[in-house]
Amino acid sequence: MQPLDLNSLRQLDSAHHLHPFTHHGQLRERGTHVIRAAKGSTLIDETGRELIDGLAGLWCVNVGYGRDEIVSAVSEQMRTLSFYPSFFNSTTEPAIRLAARLADLAPPGLEQVFFCNSGSEANETALKLIRAYWKLRGRERKRVVLSRTYAYHGVGLASSSLTGLPNCQEPFDLPLPGFVHVPGPYAYAAGRAAQDAEAYGQECIAETERTIASVGAEEIAAMFVEPIQGAGGVIVPPNGYLSALRELCRRHEILFVADEVITGFGRLGAWFASELWSLEPDLLTLAKGVTSGYIPLGGVMLRGEIGEVLESATLAHGFTYTGHPVACAAGLANLEILERERLIPRVRDDIGPRFQGALGALADHPAVAEVRGFGLIGAFELRHPPSGPLRSAAPGTMGAEFYELARSEGVIARGIRDLVAMSPPLVVTYEELDRLFGGIRRALDRFWSGETTVDV
Ligand SMILES: Cc1ncc(COP(=O)(O)O)c(C=O)c1O
Repeated sequence: MQPLDLNSLRQLDSAHHLHPFTHHGQLRERGTHVIRAAKGSTLIDETGRELIDGLAGLWCVNVGYGRDEIVSAVSEQMRTLSFYPSFFNSTTEPAIRLAARLADLAPPGLEQVFFCNSGSEANETALKLIRAYWKLRGRERKRVVLSRTYAYHGVGLASSSLTGLPNCQEPFDLPLPGFVHVPGPYAYAAGRAAQDAEAYGQECIAETERTIASVGAEEIAAMFVEPIQGAGGVIVPPNGYLSALRELCRRHEILFVADEVITGFGRLGAWFASELWSLEPDLLTLAKGVTSGYIPLGGVMLRGEIGEVLESATLAHGFTYTGHPVACAAGLANLEILERERLIPRVRDDIGPRFQGALGALADHPAVAEVRGFGLIGAFELRHPPSGPLRSAAPGTMGAEFYELARSEGVIARGIRDLVAMSPPLVVTYEELDRLFGGIRRALDRFWSGETTVDV
């Protein structure tokens, strides 16, 4: 394939390509940013410029870019058997092996996995399995599903309904009936000081308890919980909050679903965040880091008893590519790298603390109102600069401006409302971390001086 020049690419993109989560009017004005290649944690864009990928693609490229082992596993699998479904009593060896491997790695009790292609599909699948489970148990009144404000669980009609972000719902007239949101423990957004976060967490629990009482526990099927809320703004649970939430669900027979699409596969220094907070989830959804984004793959893991109940029926659910052998081969090779290179202990003991140290040091910058993070994920909240157009920027718009400034400083970080989120690959080197935070600091200085216009 002959590479096209940047102008042709931009013209074709503008004419034919719709992007997710994008304002296309703005995109056409500024022109799309084309990435050509990547290695480790470093991207190369269309102009040949290097950028540190502070977001690991979209919180997913855990083992870094350009890993030959995954490329070889995928191409070998494509040559041997490019595809065969797992429907109707058939399957393939990579799907079986990956299912068994995940059962080994997952928190105790989660023994089975249903594969799909994405995090959204994993949550859609979990919702259907939960409905079937309660129905098979003769408890069909249990239909309502709880999730939290600032949650992100995907973009299907039901998974968007679980999501607790107004911009994901208003344009589509969501949530659907039966989806109820309780407060996520986002103390900063509630105007509470960091030292008040624990008390705020307990207030969220009390509010959740009131909601359960008003809906009626006999009507509530499940609660979906990201252990750390990622796309909603890297909301780290305050002490005591998750254990209280877990206990509440257990007490009211509400299935507890840990959405580990971001937190799984090492980002927090453990295979799964559920281990860190002893969540013992009834179901666990996964995607992203299971293949480090090399090939799309998602899955839902189930507690044994749920699997047993579901076994009494043929469930007409599944995607053509459920258990795709090539995606599963990528997953196996990826897990092998995570383990062999001891990347998870590296996050826990070495690169995670180093990342948190550099992130915490940003708190001394006048533009930074709060920093928070865990392992290899973090965020900082922006203050309005004292001068320039951003001084009176509308709420929720500063993150996007900062993203542009950071990119012009050679760094990709994600602007969310008025905050900036980061989650670099688990292989990020010391030197790359220095470049990441160096770029962020330069961008903060420019931001604070009121600058907004940058070369794209
Ligand atoms: C916690 C969480 N759940 C679900 C999803 C949806 O995953 P996907 O974009 O693969 O559908 C995401 C995506 O960012 C996520 O962060």
